Amino acid sequence: MPIDVDRTLRILIVDDDAVDRRICRRALVHLEPTPVFLEAQTAGEAEKRLREQPIDCVLLDFRLPDMDGLELLGRINGYPIEHRVPVVMITGADDVSVAVEAMRHGASNYVVKDNDGRYQTLMPTIVQHALRERELHLAGWRDEQALERYRIDLSELAQRLMSTEKTTTRQLAQMLHDQLGQTLAAIRLGFDAITASCRATAAANAHQEAANAQRQAARLSELIDRAVREVRQVLVTLRPPLLDEQGLLAALDNELRAHPLARENVELRLEPAIAIARARWAPDVEYAAFMIAREAIANALRHADPGCVRISLDGDDRSLRLSVADDGSGIVFGVSRPGHLGIVGMRERALAIGADFVLESIPGKGTTARLEWRAA
Ligand SMILES: Nc1ncnc2c1ncn2[C@@H]1O[C@H](COP(=O)(O)OP(=O)(O)OP(=O)(O)O)[C@@H](O)[C@H]1O
Ligand SMILES: [Mg+2]
Repeated sequence: MPIDVDRTLRILIVDDDAVDRRICRRALVHLEPTPVFLEAQTAGEAEKRLREQPIDCVLLDFRLPDMDGLELLGRINGYPIEHRVPVVMITGADDVSVAVEAMRHGASNYVVKDNDGRYQTLMPTIVQHALRERELHLAGWRDEQALERYRIDLSELAQRLMSTEKTTTRQLAQMLHDQLGQTLAAIRLGFDAITASCRATAAANAHQEAANAQRQAARLSELIDRAVREVRQVLVTLRPPLLDEQGLLAALDNELRAHPLARENVELRLEPAIAIARARWAPDVEYAAFMIAREAIANALRHADPGCVRISLDGDDRSLRLSVADDGSGIVFGVSRPGHLGIVGMRERALAIGADFVLESIPGKGTTARLEWRAA
């Protein structure tokens, strides 16, 4: 049981010799907080006491009638960490090698019963030390537990955010396509009709106003074309084409072919492992991997001035490995860039699917973003 500083100290003395038990009690009676002593003459009795109530420290004689002390020590150390009790092994002067064994079996410390009784003066310090060590262990264990809980909470939160993002972008994409896209298409038809009629008017009357109207209509026509192109581009950004229908590899291939930042002197190379030609992963894994690759490629093209960007993809239905490597300038770390969220976003997307994400960069040599996902 965890040590509670507000309550008395419970010390269990496991020894079949009543005189030795009394010596232990006398040696420890001045400990702070005031100790309460419980006693057991056998290993069986000791285990019963440990089950019945919280004990802070066990003083364990090596020779017991029903079990040797090392075996009982092994059992106590098998308890779950939050119920583990520090054990101080007590051996006779002729059993010193047992002390060594006890330490190897996880005893907190040992006391050798020397004939002139000096061990009695050492005992309080040894027990206090064991208690402190136990408290430190427990504190470390609690911190680890808290950290693990925090990591799980964070991962769940990120997962929820990503899934909300996906739903929202889908809805937005749908609305843009179904509503704004349709409206623009209708405007296009309307203007085409007006332009045709202006042309006819101008031909018949050769009026200056008709010619002006015609020029304006031509200008508007260009704007409409541009709006249609922009809506298409927004749709591509919001909803990676081919990802749902044909999978990650096809979507990445498509992304590279039509990359808006691609330049002639930059080679964009997709290098899938042969075995994954038709591989598919869960939709959230494919989506996160695609968005991470998209950001890493965009970063390479925008910031690194690379000669080549290589995207490799590997894995099977239980794992996925993606890397985006450029041979450009490398990242200058340690510079604060508020509002630049690409790298943060890549990490969050990886966290949301329980994957590992690493960004490695060597100045002048380039940058590699690596994603590694394994099925739980
Ligand atoms: N592959 C790369 N090579 C060189 N520098 C890079 C690379 N990737 C990122 N960086 C540097 O790291 C910075 C942060 O990148 P991050 O993607 O977080 O933000 P950003 O690309 O500037 O903006 P955005 O929020 O639009 O992504 C960049 O501004 C750039 O200086
Ligand atoms: Mg970026």
